[in-house]
Amino acid sequence: MPKIALIGGSGIYNPDNFELIEEVFPDTPYGKPSDPIMIGKINGVEVAFLFRHGKQHQHPPSSVPYRANMYALWKLGCKYIISACAVGSLQEEYRPGDLVIADQFIDWTKKRDYTYFMDKTVHMSMPDPCCPYLNQIFAETAEEMKIPYHVGGTYICIEGPRFSNRAESRMFRQFGDIVGMTMVPECQLARELGMCYCSLATVTDYDCWKDEDVTIDMVMKIMAECLDKVLRLLELGLPKIKDESTCHCIESAKGCGSLDEIQ
Ligand code: ADE
Repeated sequence: MPKIALIGGSGIYNPDNFELIEEVFPDTPYGKPSDPIMIGKINGVEVAFLFRHGKQHQHPPSSVPYRANMYALWKLGCKYIISACAVGSLQEEYRPGDLVIADQFIDWTKKRDYTYFMDKTVHMSMPDPCCPYLNQIFAETAEEMKIPYHVGGTYICIEGPRFSNRAESRMFRQFGDIVGMTMVPECQLARELGMCYCSLATVTDYDCWKDEDVTIDMVMKIMAECLDKVLRLLELGLPKIKDESTCHCIESAKGCGSLDEIQ
């Protein structure tokens, strides 16, 4: 079974380099995942592919079944989660079209299912929420491809579905580099399950702090223009993922006992 899962966000719908083998749509204790999970290959590497919002974009950011998604991928045997998403930029130098390999997040969401531990106290350590091993692989790959990229960036996760207003956007600029709606709780659920998480974010706009107002049409247009680049990045990066990581993602989960509790 695939060790690598790819979660596709807005605008990543028809990966032309994905060879489908089978689809599974498992029940989980947290309900069904967003969509059937497609198991297949990209450049010879087996991956489980899941559309975060569903093929019809039927799950807005607040209602994505995050716990079911991550649990289903974990049960399939996935250890590495590559999450592709669209984000707004909060800093001049993070330009529309750039790739950001995020390494931190600030949680500005309001009402999500954040944990598998509702009836038991499990305090997860999360100083570095993203996997340094995966981040390094995709940074090297972006460098080889000579595409504009940033290794590291703080992702402000807002609740949505609306975009930020100007006051919010100006405030977020004090704390972060990019703004999106989905990294939380996806990233922290991955950690509770001991999975390595990597966020490959495409900048689609300057949020509203700069000059233009953000619209979903603007986001989708830039994502469509960047789709090829993201797919090539995956094609070249995925074969480099080997079971040789020295990261501490799984140890963090073992350290707080979360893996003993989740069945
Ligand atoms: N996704 C893409 N652009 C965004 C923005 N400006 N705010 C929140 N999510 C986004």
